[in-house]
Amino acid sequence: MKRYHLTTFGCQMNAHDSERIKGMLEELGLGEATTQDDADVLVFNTCTIREKPDQKFAAHLAQAAALKARDPLKVIAVGGCYAEAQKERLFELYPYVDVAFGPGSIPHLGDWVGAGGHAPRGRFGEWESFAGDLPAHRERGFQAWVQVSMGCNSTCSYCIVPAVRGREQSRRPGDIVAEVATLARDGVREITLLGQNVNSYGRDLLPAVRTEFGELLRACDAIDGIERIRFTSPHPKDFRSPVIEAMAECAAVCEHAHLPLQSGSSRLLKLMRRTYTQERYLALVAELRGAIPDLALGTDIIVGFPGETEDDFRETLDVIEEVRFDSAFTFVYSPRQGTDAAAMPDQVPAAVKSERIERVIAVVQRIARERNQERVGRIEQVLVEGPSRTDESVLRGRTRRNTTVNFTGAAAAGDLVDVRIEGASSTTLRGAQVAPGTTLGAGAVAGAVTA
Ligand code: SAH
Ligand code: SF4
Ligand code: F3S
Repeated sequence: MKRYHLTTFGCQMNAHDSERIKGMLEELGLGEATTQDDADVLVFNTCTIREKPDQKFAAHLAQAAALKARDPLKVIAVGGCYAEAQKERLFELYPYVDVAFGPGSIPHLGDWVGAGGHAPRGRFGEWESFAGDLPAHRERGFQAWVQVSMGCNSTCSYCIVPAVRGREQSRRPGDIVAEVATLARDGVREITLLGQNVNSYGRDLLPAVRTEFGELLRACDAIDGIERIRFTSPHPKDFRSPVIEAMAECAAVCEHAHLPLQSGSSRLLKLMRRTYTQERYLALVAELRGAIPDLALGTDIIVGFPGETEDDFRETLDVIEEVRFDSAFTFVYSPRQGTDAAAMPDQVPAAVKSERIERVIAVVQRIARERNQERVGRIEQVLVEGPSRTDESVLRGRTRRNTTVNFTGAAAAGDLVDVRIEGASSTTLRGAQVAPGTTLGAGAVAGAVTA
């Protein structure tokens, strides 16, 4: 039996696509190899959101080329967003790449990988079927990604995604609900709905099946066995009240939202073409928190966007202080070929970018630590993921608010347990499992009253 080895870069969308690449290859009769050495086909599912993933991939590819130099029968296949972005020159840049495919061409993998793939061949720009409808090889039995849409119709001036993932297309609600029901029957308890902008979901569907994102949340919530629903990413510009109401009313929808801010300066947001202002973003946060009091908020921040002044940057810090995010991914702006921002004047010098990223990380980490410390003493529901990464005798899981908890206890991966939180850092909580139904205790309440 021929064997493949797959390396994945990038976001959850790519991780989801990789499950389908594996599913497709296994359906073609290939087995999974544990190392690249043992594999006949070396597959890379690439990302090109910033320069860093490009460089990381280049380093991996150099290693693969060295393996192929020793064993010329190995096939090197490059898929994903970098492949799509570089389709004109990929085979020129890397002559040892045998086949390449864009994110939309995973359904056609069988057409050439199975055929040996020795002549340079590539398939790109095909967007006719959803990865979510392909066979899957999933790593975890109790958690699953579910694709709700492909592509992106936004025009954020820094972003390469619309160029490499095509126009937005919503998947039919019936297909999504059917997939979630099947997952639930297979033992999945937590789903994460995936789309570049889940809040514009459904707007392109034909009237007969048109469903908005809030209704989709309700339909998933009604499926027996699904105890947790997450989604990523919502675009602040399209986050409307019906979705907030659905989040508040659906028991399974977790108290967590990832709400990319990008910048706190309305001037910069305009140059970024995010189509919301600082005020509108803050109003949305207030509405979300009003409806879902215990909501955890995550975000994405870009520093060093062209033209960003010290004042613009300070506005970003101010919004971070005001919102008090529970977590944040912070990025140095990276020019992407073909995007409008890459051609803008006033690119920010590297030294200024690195000074700003350090400052923003310090603020984000301090607030995240404080937010996590506020959880100490509470009892949180945790979905167990397995042993802790650093200490086998400790378990690891996630709260509904999406924070990782390391805790002592006795439970299996996939169990939902109650954990008393005893300690916190900026990224994780620490605690101990308690019996189901344990409350904070009358003593604690009485103590608070008499104090
Ligand atoms: N569709 C998602 C974002 C996907 S990209 C959304 O709009 O929420 C994930 C994050 O990468 C973005 O939120 C942004 O913060 C960051 N990013 C995208 N392009 C970038 C670039 N050129 N330089 C730096 N960060 C970038
Ligand atoms: Fe990129 Fe903006 Fe689309 Fe997100 S919404 S994928 S940042 S263009
Ligand atoms: Fe994701 Fe990277 Fe593509 S962030 S959509 S894998 S460019």
